[in-house]
Amino acid sequence: MASSPSRRFEGRSVVVTGAGSGIGLATTERLLAEGARVVAVDVSVSRLADLEGRHDGEPLACVVADVSSQAGVDQVVAAAAGPVDGLANVAGIMDGFVPPAEVTDEHWFHVFAVNLDSMMRLTRAFLPGMLDVGRGAIVNVASEASLRGSAAGVAYTASKHAVVGLTRSTAFFYAPKGVRANAVAPGGVMTNIDATFTSDWGRERATPYLTTDLTPVATPDQLAAAIAWLLSEESSDVNGVVLPVDGGWSTI
Ligand SMILES: NC(=O)c1ccc[n+]([C@@H]2O[C@H](COP(=O)([O-])OP(=O)(O)OC[C@H]3O[C@@H](n4cnc5c(N)ncnc54)[C@H](O)[C@@H]3O)[C@@H](O)[C@H]2O)c1
Repeated sequence: MASSPSRRFEGRSVVVTGAGSGIGLATTERLLAEGARVVAVDVSVSRLADLEGRHDGEPLACVVADVSSQAGVDQVVAAAAGPVDGLANVAGIMDGFVPPAEVTDEHWFHVFAVNLDSMMRLTRAFLPGMLDVGRGAIVNVASEASLRGSAAGVAYTASKHAVVGLTRSTAFFYAPKGVRANAVAPGGVMTNIDATFTSDWGRERATPYLTTDLTPVATPDQLAAAIAWLLSEESSDVNGVVLPVDGGWSTI
């Protein structure tokens, strides 16, 4: 990973979801390197076991939980065992680029449960502890699909637009109480996310907008750097923003 500029998170605890892979993994490792105690959450047992193995003896608590359910969120809260200073809602899934005429209820609700409901429930769970001390930072991972209609299918696009609403609402309500909420909107990032097409029309319609090579594909570390900055005191007056971290895709 990229060298860390400091130990900005010494004495701080941060919950990171999706910590077993990609952006969540890079964020977890960056936060550990900067002194944080990290509660690392993922639904994958093996990915968390790998993470734990690489950071033996460090202040890392790994929690195998499915954050798409309230029961999973309750497991995370129990593992955190008290208030936290930061929450990075990273876990998310793609949707096969399924367009509106083809989406099933089951698919729609599952994508929303993972990409949006998890973030709402974890925010709701950890806000009271942040409000008690008058300090806290929440970072939600949105997407280029929060900004446009051509970057994914309908369920993913709608869920990521809703992540922006969740972020802005949280920022609005709690700005006077010392809690900030921001989002990052990644473009393409080299991770394990399943971005295969399950719809022929989805593939035909979206492909020209995804293969134009107009912006470079980012590394997870580039996203982790932005997330860590938004979690840190260095961004203390930044609240309610949706920060594209996409090499400039959002300008096109
Ligand atoms: N990779 C990209 O190009 C890209 C672009 C824009 C936005 N994003 C967003 O970035 C975030 C992270 O994705 P990534 O690219 O690092 O993907 P990834 O698949 O590499 O990592 C996501 C991790 O989340 C975990 N996860 C999935 N569902 C979960 C659940 N219900 N409960 C707990 N853990 C769960 C997975 O096991 C995986 O380890 C997602 O919200 C995604 O939508 C990614």
